[in-house]
Amino acid sequence: MAKSGEGAAKARRHKRDSDNRQSSIDNPQSLRALVAGGAGFIGSHLCDHLLEHDFEVLSLDNLVTGSRRNIRHLLSRPGFRFQRGDVTRPLRVPGRVDVVFNLASPASPKDYLALPLETLAVGSTGTRNLLEFALRKKAVFVQASTSEVYGDPLLHPQTESYWGNVNPVGPRSVYDEAKRFSETLVMAYHRKHGLATRIARIFNTYGPRMKLDDGRIVPTLVDQALNGKPLTVFGNGRQTRSFCYVSDMVEGLYRLSSCTDPMPVNIGNPREFTVLRFARIVKKLTGSRSPLRFEPLPEDDPKRRRPDITRASRLLRWQPRVELEQGLKLTIDSFRSKSCTVRQGPLRPT
Ligand SMILES: NC(=O)c1ccc[n+]([C@@H]2O[C@H](COP(=O)([O-])OP(=O)(O)OC[C@H]3O[C@@H](n4cnc5c(N)ncnc54)[C@H](O)[C@@H]3O)[C@@H](O)[C@H]2O)c1
Repeated sequence: MAKSGEGAAKARRHKRDSDNRQSSIDNPQSLRALVAGGAGFIGSHLCDHLLEHDFEVLSLDNLVTGSRRNIRHLLSRPGFRFQRGDVTRPLRVPGRVDVVFNLASPASPKDYLALPLETLAVGSTGTRNLLEFALRKKAVFVQASTSEVYGDPLLHPQTESYWGNVNPVGPRSVYDEAKRFSETLVMAYHRKHGLATRIARIFNTYGPRMKLDDGRIVPTLVDQALNGKPLTVFGNGRQTRSFCYVSDMVEGLYRLSSCTDPMPVNIGNPREFTVLRFARIVKKLTGSRSPLRFEPLPEDDPKRRRPDITRASRLLRWQPRVELEQGLKLTIDSFRSKSCTVRQGPLRPT
């Protein structure tokens, strides 16, 4: 892919800043990224972001929870390619790859509870296949981990040095423990093989392209509000969540790929809202008159979630920029068009 001007300079700077001394770059003008899970919500926005920074992008996805719709606008774009494939199977990707982003995994509770074995397989075999692949290609490896590794945290806000409070046999454990195991695998490849690895602990992210029926709090409440249905609030609604807009998230992941520190970095928005307050903001922004409907808390539902992003601010010079109301307005606008066609699913706050 030919590059010129500021974009190319940015990409070269990105490469220079990287500690990936293993990379063998035939053509220093061009960086090539593989995004596993690249047809999902965050993965597709990451593909957009990398293309804007003049990367060539290969999106690899088995579409188990993602969709071609998310990348349809990219299919004819030079420098972008989509390959349908399952990362738990041997990977065949010819040519050079400079950076591997591993976002492949069911991510919403509704999805991973319906796909427990697939979730464990992608977190174990899938991550290992991608690590082997990165080793062969001498690429930087970026793992999308999650705030769920902290479980129902006893420390607040959560710092990366906190080891978490996870129930290993609860229903959510298929996801939480798969992600914890992935982190362990990534560190083992770093320590044993010297692979240039990064771990992003992603906190609640929202924005356009989320599935309306995936059960996560933002699409569910917005969809209920737009359709005049009661807004579901679990427990007394005093449990807290923080919400990171997707453009902030992908900028954080992009910056992380060129940082040199292999230890986990929290990426999320530290502004904390009670679920009750969040539901009221959704009502206000959608103009909905729907009542709130209170339901019992699901099992192992975390009571508080808020990232400490000191490390991200220091290492990546990164801070979220998009305020909740601003990001929600963009999200609501994108949902308005698809809201009426969607099947309702149970809400499980994440
Ligand atoms: N969205 C969030 O708030 C959030 C929070 C914490 C962590 N994360 C992590 O970020 C990543 C992306 O999450 P998302 O919200 O975009 O979810 P998503 O479900 O929209 O995207 C995940 C993608 O991975 C693909 N996938 C799953 N298994 C695969 C396999 N075996 N082979 C190839 N592709 C496979 C899916 O088809 C989907 O396109 C996930 O790893 C998730 O754990 C997301």
